[in-house]
Order: sequence, then structure tokens, then C-alpha cells
Amino acid sequence: MRVIHFAAECYPVAKVGGLADVLGSLPKYQRKAGIESSVVMPFYNKTFVQNNEFEVLHEGSIQQGNSSYHYSVLRERSNLLGFELILIKIPGLLDREEVYSYPDESEQFLAFQHAALDWLCATYQRPDIIHCHDHHAGLIPFYIENVDQFNLLKGVPTVATVHNGQYQGWLSWNSASLMPTFDTWRWGLLDWNGLINPLAALIKCCWAYTTVSEGYLHELYVRANGLEGLFEAERTKSYGIVNGIDTEVWDTATDPMLENNFSPAAVKKGKENNKSILCDTYGMDASLPLFVFIGRFALEKGADLLASVLVSVLERFEGEVNFFVLGSGDKGIEASLLKIREQFSQHLALFIGYNEELAHQVYAGADFLLMPSRVEPCGLNQLYAMRYGTVPVVHATGGLKDTVVDIGREGYGVLFNDISVNGVCEGIERALHFWRQTDQKQQTALRKKLMKLDFSWEKSAAKYTDLYKKLIN
Ligand code: GLC
Repeated sequence: MRVIHFAAECYPVAKVGGLADVLGSLPKYQRKAGIESSVVMPFYNKTFVQNNEFEVLHEGSIQQGNSSYHYSVLRERSNLLGFELILIKIPGLLDREEVYSYPDESEQFLAFQHAALDWLCATYQRPDIIHCHDHHAGLIPFYIENVDQFNLLKGVPTVATVHNGQYQGWLSWNSASLMPTFDTWRWGLLDWNGLINPLAALIKCCWAYTTVSEGYLHELYVRANGLEGLFEAERTKSYGIVNGIDTEVWDTATDPMLENNFSPAAVKKGKENNKSILCDTYGMDASLPLFVFIGRFALEKGADLLASVLVSVLERFEGEVNFFVLGSGDKGIEASLLKIREQFSQHLALFIGYNEELAHQVYAGADFLLMPSRVEPCGLNQLYAMRYGTVPVVHATGGLKDTVVDIGREGYGVLFNDISVNGVCEGIERALHFWRQTDQKQQTALRKKLMKLDFSWEKSAAKYTDLYKKLIN
């Protein structure tokens, strides 16, 4: 079975969020299960592409409004990622350093989708499944059914995966002139409330849609940034399939980014060693419980609550707890965190930016991972944390609720229901309380239990396979 994934990100080629992690691991596990899985993404001028070899598979051109673009299709030569990686390069449009946020972003993703389908048709390739991730690949199912030029692909089953329904890729109707030609009576399929909405078009036109957890699917039926009615209406073709993690990349015993590797059997010493290095580097007392936050500073992730939560907890438990915050994003949030670091420099370490290696070290050295997300379609950080023996303290929403079981229910994490400064503080207090009540033996047992939980891709990849088969038949 040949499956092509279309997406904007893929780890380690280009990563902004968890989308990249999924595209960098699911196809690898699919290959192991005998599926011929490939990833097609835009070309970015980043280290991975600069340092590795690519061969040109095809060259062609597309017309986008008044502009004509020459594109090339590049394939990574040595199967470094464990699956076929293909990049669509367009000089001046798809050859930049960043993934998002250019003023002509809509032209970029329109061209990506157009060129990718043009290549498949020009080279007579008809995969068994086309799998589109988020709105950046949202127009593909519409195009293959409605654009004559892509007739060859008509009838290929399409799967859509929603990693984040907040972002929908809205375009004004002027952008229709940049698209390949189709019958104007089909325009309704692109429209949502007077705008072209690629995510809506994806949900309308795909054969089946999935979300990255069951919990998030049920949330989308009622709250989806304006698309809830659509998700609900298309419910019969919806599936919740929770993400897995790449347990080869995330393995404390072999992780090259850790100075001290350790196995579940040696978790106590292993965590202590990693924590000491981290705390020494940042001038904190390693004997105190360490809470960490890793992620984008965005409202969705509840990062706006962090500064007030930290002040409140650090004042209330003065000298008894440490925090490590690693991330970047909203400049106001960055500024507020920098400000409180001055006040609590011995108990708060801050790293503003994206740093994959440091993130691994922080998961390994932390006692608790805090995730106050307002919305969390799946969440991978809690999975990484658990695999590294760190207790998750999370808002009971979406995928967090599906993957973390509360200690009060014989589980292994702390769930809180109220997403406010008080609510998050209560979660932290419960975690601290639990820590104080338990002895080292119990804590070690909990860490071992966390490390042994199975969040690998095998199970979820099999669910995608079942879905693909159902659609093909
Ligand atoms: C998005 C979601 C996150 C999910 C990831 C991968 O980043 O916000 O919850 O884990 O996609 O599916």
C-alpha cells in the first residue's frame, strides 16, 4: 500500500510544533509495518537540507494567477528518516528559512499543493491513499476531485488529520484566482462564512477525518473556532486516533542528547544525575522539586497564566520549589517571564527560544511537567515527560485527559479542571502535596511506572492502517 502524507512540517527537517514530530515518526512506523509511506513537504532552507543530499526527481512549472513558477521535486537520498522524504522547491517562494509567518504565506501553501499534485500527475503516480495534515494541505482533496488537470488522482481515498483546528488557513476570495482552474459551481466547497477556508474544505472533501485524540474529537463537535457545525455534520466519517511517540528518539537509555543515560531500573540515580547538571548550570538547588514548562508561549498553551502562577507558587512556597521554563512566542509573555526571573533568580530558570537538545535534558532532569493548555489536541510533551520519568501536571482537556490518569484514581499524574491562575496553582499544590506525602521508594516506583507506559506508535499506526484499508475497499 502506498501512502503519501502532505504537511508543512516534519522533524528533523523543519519543526515548529508537534505536527513535525508526528510527520517525523508515524511514516517510519508505517514503513516498519509494511506500508510504503512518504512525506511530501515544502522546501525550507534549514540545516537538515543543507547538510544532506537530495536528488531531483522531477521539474515542472505551475501558473498561479499572473505568476509562473518553476518547481523541482527533491528526494532525500539515503533514507535517513526511515521513510521517503520529498521536498517541493520553488525559487523565491519555497526556499526560505522559516516555516510560517511570511506575508505571502497563502501563495506559498497554494503553490506547494498545486506543484505537488502537478508532479504526481505528470509522472503518472496514483498512490493508494493521500493523507493531508492540517490546513496547509487542506485543498488537496478538493483539487483532486474538482480540477480536471488532476484527473489522474480522482477517486484516490483521502484522509485528513486535524492536529489543530484553531488555525484554518482563511483566504479572501481574491485568492481563488491563484488556484488551478475548476468549475465555478464547486466554489461552495471552499467557502465558510464568506471566506475560503482550507480546513473546512478539507473536512468537506476528504473521505475520512481523524483528530489526534478521541477527547479532542468530541471537543471539536462543540467548539472548533467556527467549524463545530461542520465537524458535527461530518461526524460519521470521523475517527479519534491518539498520537504515539518515536520511542527510538525518546529513549533515556540511548538518547545522545543526555549526558547521563539511564534505564527504568536505574531511574532514581538517572533522574538525580540529570537534574544536578541542569540545576548546577542554572544556579538552582537540585534538592528541591523541579517543575518545568516546555512549549510555545501562546494562549492556547495557557502560557499567559505562567507568570502569575509562578509568582504565586514561588511566594507561597518560598525556597521550597524550583521552575524551569523553556520556550518562546508571544513577546508580552516573554517579557513578563524575564521580569519575574529577576525577582526569583535562584528558583526560576528561563530559556527563551527553541532548543531540542535542552528540551530532552529538561525532561530527563525534571520532577514535574506543567501543561496548562486551554486547548490540547493531543499533546506530545506529556508523553515525552512520562517516558523520561517525569510526572505530568495537566489541564484535563483534549489529549491530555486521554493520556494522563490522575494519582487519585491510581494513576500517575495530576489533572486539574479549572484553567485559571488559581486552578493551575491548585494543580501544582496537589502535586507538591503528593510528593511530600510519599517517600523516595514510592516516588521511584511511580517514575518506573511512568517510564514503562506504552505510548509507542505501533498501536496508533495500526489504527491508521485499518482506516486506510476500510477506505480502499
Ligand atoms: C498540534 C497540537 C498538539 C498535537 C500536535 C501533533 O501541535 O497542538 O496537541 O500533539 O499537533 O498532533
